[in-house]
Amino acid sequence: MSEAPGRELPAVVSFVRRSPRMNPSQQRALDRLAPQYLIEVPRGELSTSIASCAQVDWNAEFGRPVGAENSPVFVEIGSGTGDSLVASALAHPEANLIGFEVYERAVASTMSKLAAAGAANARLMMVDAVQALDHLFAPSSIARLSLFFPDPWPKKRHHKRRLVSPAFSEVAASRLTIGGCWLVATDWPDYADQMREVLDSTPGLINEYATPGGWAPRPDERPITKFEQRGLAAGRPVVDLCYRRVP
Ligand SMILES: C[S@@+](CC[C@H](N)C(=O)[O-])C[C@H]1O[C@@H](n2cnc3c(N)ncnc32)[C@H](O)[C@@H]1O
Repeated sequence: MSEAPGRELPAVVSFVRRSPRMNPSQQRALDRLAPQYLIEVPRGELSTSIASCAQVDWNAEFGRPVGAENSPVFVEIGSGTGDSLVASALAHPEANLIGFEVYERAVASTMSKLAAAGAANARLMMVDAVQALDHLFAPSSIARLSLFFPDPWPKKRHHKRRLVSPAFSEVAASRLTIGGCWLVATDWPDYADQMREVLDSTPGLINEYATPGGWAPRPDERPITKFEQRGLAAGRPVVDLCYRRVP
């Protein structure tokens, strides 16, 4: 499904997979709820990579036509323990949400929250979201892309692991519908500046709040997570961005 010749996604992934053993109740939640919430695809060489033949029939997964104006696709990258995924699923019953998260325990916890909330319009995938966006989504198919508190990789030698790069931004922009938006939040000022630089120079994206300051208001549906709390406790300012796809 890849397009944009000449573009190459970075080989270095944005996460180090932490797989401490799940406790018995997390394992039970995963076993019980995976058939309802987890979308599996054939894997590539790494346990989190996707085989080149992988495809997802989104209509079949959600049990309804997916992608029309009244049935939009919302994607969250690094959905963590699922607080914003659950909030968005409940606030937008018409939307079809897909959360990408490679951390098993967080996925188990998200499934438990979705089930407790009775949310039937969200699914999870335990694969690298960068690859998934490129391989599994058609151009102009995602109405909302959320990236909240991506791993900051603060050491300079690790900056190459940061998820927001020109190559990834180009792919993300191409997957957004015209009028679709990309929401970002971070508590790391230098990463925030880097994100703005990258998104400002990505063709097809405009900053919805370019004036006055470039930062977006906090979205109503973004609950305060552990990661945001940590940033605030350390005195780091939390900022939001909102970029819209234009023709
Ligand atoms: C700092 S946490 C933030 C989690 C959540 N958004 C929040 O605010 O609580 C970042 C999460 O992104 C996940 N992650 C990082 N890169 C990813 C990728 N390429 N695909 C899927 N998940 C990824 C990590 O496993 C981690 O759980």
